[in-house]
Amino acid sequence: MSGRIPQAFIDDLLTRTDIVDVIDARVPLKKAGREYKACCPFHNEKTPSFTVSQVKQFYHCFGCGVHGTAISFLMDYEHMEFVEAVEELAHMAGLEVPREAAAESASQPPTQPLYALLEEVSRYYRQQLRTHPQAARAVEYLKRRGLTGDIAARFDIGFAPPGWDNLARALGGDAASRAALLETGLLIERTDASGIYDRFRDRIQFPIRDRRGRTVGFGGRVLGEDTPKYLNSPESSIFHKGRELYGLYEARKAVRRLDRILVVEGYMDVVALAQFDINYAVATLGTSTTPDHLERLYRTVPEVVFCFDGDRAGRAAAWRALENALPVLTDGREARFLFLPDGEDPDTLVRKTGKDEFENMITHSVHLSDFLFDHLSSQVDTDSIDGRARLVDLARPLLSRLPDSIFRQLMLERLAQIARTDSSHLADRFQKPAENRGVAGTTSAMSAHATGSGKSPVREAIAMLLHQPDLAQKIEMPRIPEPDATPGVTLLLELLELLQRQPGLNTGAVLEHWRGREEARYLHKLAQWTPLTEKLDLAAEVRGHFSQIAHLITEKRISALLHDERHRTLNDKEKQELKTLLQARHADARR
Ligand code: UTP
Ligand code: MN
Repeated sequence: MSGRIPQAFIDDLLTRTDIVDVIDARVPLKKAGREYKACCPFHNEKTPSFTVSQVKQFYHCFGCGVHGTAISFLMDYEHMEFVEAVEELAHMAGLEVPREAAAESASQPPTQPLYALLEEVSRYYRQQLRTHPQAARAVEYLKRRGLTGDIAARFDIGFAPPGWDNLARALGGDAASRAALLETGLLIERTDASGIYDRFRDRIQFPIRDRRGRTVGFGGRVLGEDTPKYLNSPESSIFHKGRELYGLYEARKAVRRLDRILVVEGYMDVVALAQFDINYAVATLGTSTTPDHLERLYRTVPEVVFCFDGDRAGRAAAWRALENALPVLTDGREARFLFLPDGEDPDTLVRKTGKDEFENMITHSVHLSDFLFDHLSSQVDTDSIDGRARLVDLARPLLSRLPDSIFRQLMLERLAQIARTDSSHLADRFQKPAENRGVAGTTSAMSAHATGSGKSPVREAIAMLLHQPDLAQKIEMPRIPEPDATPGVTLLLELLELLQRQPGLNTGAVLEHWRGREEARYLHKLAQWTPLTEKLDLAAEVRGHFSQIAHLITEKRISALLHDERHRTLNDKEKQELKTLLQARHADARR
């Protein structure tokens, strides 16, 4: 694990980056007044409502409501993860991404050289497929499997030649590379420490790429019927099987706007499907589908279709995938299951049916809800009360894993239907996921106060500061009596404090300080605000809001203390506080 990226670096990066360049390179923008516009890349439209503000370094779409910073744009449009997006922007700006020293990362060697080395290894295997004296056997094998040179090139398929030390001799010459090849498992140390040898020998090599296209490991297949049929690179600091998916990088590269992904079991399946122009298949690496995989997939597309053999093992694997998928199925995400006829895998089947028929099968695959209820119903007798009670029992832990959503509600209703009971009875018995409850609670408390309709001084002050962060230099930090629980005020003060401490931040950079926090959504919404007229003296407006806020809070505190005074004796501290507040109120009134 490498350390966190320091916030100061992100500030600096977003000051040097121009969101207009970042977006324009991907979605051509037209200047319109002070802003830039385009047809929104996130929904279908004919007239442009996607707006990019160069001043704020922020985009937003009036049509579908998407919005964000340069970092969010790369995450949403290119499906990058946060760190990747930062790295991409840093690359554009010619900067190195620094990391805060983390306890573990200090003891670990840097990963950069490993990526470079694996790239070289991949090139070496490809070259062997063209030039090795025995390459004809490998080419012959690939042809027999029906692969064209074109598709082999797209997946950078290579050949590890027969022999014990080809790779060791070609690329393991110096001590550093040798150590790195051992670290990635491409070379193996003999148990008696008498030397090293190549892991992959006489195999077809499939490079496994991470989301950014960097080679992080290999899968290797024997040319004939030997065992083990497939060998995979072991896990290393840059290769985690529970995270990577074979073919995801290639799919993202081949299809501009991916809208669904097919998860299959084997390397050959991914490649064969691509050969038939089905360019959206990925494979796990000899492991089952992990929650990490699923999170990654659903970040990329709303629909994931799991493709398994129709036999017992296939169904068991599908059920495991279902269990893992439940917690990530928020509204708008869909999981489906394609069960293949006995004895077929996607590779063999697509060669028989062709693209259209195969895609037709994908389109008619089983919905997660049907798979779940059919599978459970088959284990009980739904004609008896006992059986139906048992069904509810079996479904309970599964449906409880679903996030709070419309989908969860509909699943409960469906269960109630099958069990012939009332869904409201069921809902009471099913616990809601705790984290959802917490988040929803606080958000609504805050939004009721601060984003609710009607003018709220807190909300307006935040909107103005986000619109023009340098206003903060013209504002004094207001004295707000403590303790204060007014929602939004803490956030406003935190914002003001940040802006005063760090002048020069643009709106996008400010918003990045809240990434991952609950308040971010609220801030993003307010960042879309613009004044109706340019003539407004925003500094005066914000000052006005602050004194109004201070006034409201003071009054609230005074009445609370006066209320207490009627029912009990105030302690000395409270008495003093009340006195000060009343004096301040008096002074205010005379001003
Ligand atoms: P399969 O044996 O179903 O692979 O294993 P396949 O893709 O159909 O192979 P072909 O068509 O005979 O070439 C599916 C996946 O399971 C892992 C690999 O990731 C493989 O792609 N596997 C399989 C191994 O890791 N080791 C093995 O020995 C076999
Ligand atoms: Mn196969």
